[in-house]
Amino acid sequence: MHVGVLTGGGDCPGLNAVIRAVVRKGVQEHGWSFTGFRDGWRGVVEGDTVPLDVRAVRGILPRGGTVLGSSRTDPFVLPDGVRRIGEQLAKLRTDALIAIGGRGTLGIAARLHAEHGVPCVGVPKTIDNDLSATDWTFGFDTAVGIATEAIDRLHTTADSHRRVLVVEVMGRHTGWIALHAGLAGGANVILVPEQRFDLDQVCAWVASRFEATYAPILVVAEGARPRDGAPVQGSVGVWLADAIERRTGKEARTTVLGHVQRGGSPSAFDRWLATRFGLHAVDAVRDGAHGTMVALRGTRVVRVPLSAATDRLKAVDPALYAEAGVFFG
Ligand code: F6P
Repeated sequence: MHVGVLTGGGDCPGLNAVIRAVVRKGVQEHGWSFTGFRDGWRGVVEGDTVPLDVRAVRGILPRGGTVLGSSRTDPFVLPDGVRRIGEQLAKLRTDALIAIGGRGTLGIAARLHAEHGVPCVGVPKTIDNDLSATDWTFGFDTAVGIATEAIDRLHTTADSHRRVLVVEVMGRHTGWIALHAGLAGGANVILVPEQRFDLDQVCAWVASRFEATYAPILVVAEGARPRDGAPVQGSVGVWLADAIERRTGKEARTTVLGHVQRGGSPSAFDRWLATRFGLHAVDAVRDGAHGTMVALRGTRVVRVPLSAATDRLKAVDPALYAEAGVFFG
């Protein structure tokens, strides 16, 4: 059996752990060979490959990023993209493809399988943890850890200067990182894209925090928006600090964590999850379970249709968000 492996979309800590597990199990237990495709679907379309054997995956478990590179290339919008994929896979005598990615990459895998019979197995990844088919995606725990450490550090400088500190975390569509890091870091306000915020209420929380003689820390997901629909140009965190300063007269600063949340070594949990996903993806290939992806349900790794990766965004449950409200202000 010859298997292709690719990583697509935004990178995320744990990708290398998946690649390592796939190759180690595939080679050691089944005697398979592998081809790595460079930069996601671009590498498959263009036949841009890297050798992938046990030697190539040695030492990569704790490394962030992806040794295969990544891109958001969509073969369906390229002239002849799908035909070229068929040609490349035939030329390399590829029996199956393991695609590691988020909604974009796995959506392409789902279409290639459903519409063109390409034998794909998916592995879900995203630091956003917003894929509905799986309880957790690897990369999320690492991102939350990085954001929590940042919040811890910002508490002390905020208190020293009696300033408002706004921490903007990733999450264009969902507020999972904001909610988890905000709770773990003891934030006084957490704002998520799923619920529009009321600026008057936010300023009231800021004021009450100062009354309690502590400086407020606000965690805001990059996709959060004010209720009155006022247009926010650029960073919502910068916009918010500016609005709070003007309304309350308190000095405010913003820290935009950005891609720091996606870089560096994966946490132990993400290594564990990514490794298990890799091992189970090999089982899926062995069983000919094309058109499926691996997913975590509780502590069990299961298979679900690839289309489930793209079906529905896993939004923050309003009840879960409401739980955090006791700490606001
Ligand atoms: O989906 C992962 C993610 O990191 C989001 O949280 C973020 O909004 C986006 O990717 C950033 O994308 P890019 O790296 O292309 O700027």
